[in-house]
Amino acid sequence: VSRPPLVSVKGIPLIKYFAECIERLKDLQVWPDDVLISTYPKSGTTWVSEILDMIYQGGDQEKCQRGPIYTRVPFLEFKAPGILSGMETLKQIPAPRLIKTHLPLLLLPQALLDRKVKIIYMARNAKDVAVSYFNFYKMAKVHPDPGAWEDFLEKFMTGQVCYGSWYQHVQEWWELRKRQPVLYLFYEDMKKNPKREIQKITEFVGRPLPEDIIDRIVQQTSFKKMQENPMTNYTTAPTEVMDHSISPFMRKGITGDWKNTFTVAQNERFDADYEKKMADSDLHFHTDL
Ligand code: A3P
Repeated sequence: VSRPPLVSVKGIPLIKYFAECIERLKDLQVWPDDVLISTYPKSGTTWVSEILDMIYQGGDQEKCQRGPIYTRVPFLEFKAPGILSGMETLKQIPAPRLIKTHLPLLLLPQALLDRKVKIIYMARNAKDVAVSYFNFYKMAKVHPDPGAWEDFLEKFMTGQVCYGSWYQHVQEWWELRKRQPVLYLFYEDMKKNPKREIQKITEFVGRPLPEDIIDRIVQQTSFKKMQENPMTNYTTAPTEVMDHSISPFMRKGITGDWKNTFTVAQNERFDADYEKKMADSDLHFHTDL
């Protein structure tokens, strides 16, 4: 399997196939009831996508079995050989649509902002993202070879990974909430109190649900349930795109796994660099679990 190098689009490194798709995104037809799920990769995108589809289906688990998560919540900039692209998938689904993206604001179709679509952003602490991304790079072969962990970590810290800098991404979408309807969520909060976070989402999208339905959504979107569910665990994706024998997509689903991968020296270097890159921001992560 060939692993093409990343391609820079306006300075943002992207998977070759995704880069080819960017130009076409300007043709995106935006509907007023579209909801955009935005994340830096490996921050719980699939989790929050499944939660949203469950909310939109009124907690009906059967309806959420109608297809793999990437067909129910199309991935805006997705393109790969032999598979329906995100833009094509979007044309096939009825309103109200849930749309997923990892794009930094620089590459986001302006129409989504002009039309003021509701945006749900999910952020996850940088260290767990880096570890999760490293394992994902290995199994999702549309990425370049990640190399050794210490090399990958260096690339992560300098933004030389697909979608560029985590630091820039989490901060710019945090700032965006001052100008756009953005619900900014944290993976760590979702782990700690999924019920409260899911309630926040139902309010934000204007679809309140009775408590017993919320409880059911909490259960159905647990890591274990989603790990076993072929419609959420990505085992339906072609092996050329994801090879679960290398590392499953539903890998661990916990907070603090970085401690099993970072050395003490790497951690100290990471913290010092992190402080510099995040110094101007009032965005804080809750990782002391
Ligand atoms: P790990 O690799 O740390 O296990 P994304 O969907 O943005 O690609 O993020 C994938 C990460 O979210 C993986 O993290 C995956 O295990 C985790 N994840 C997926 N569903 C989850 C769930 N229901 N609960 C907790 N974590 C989940």
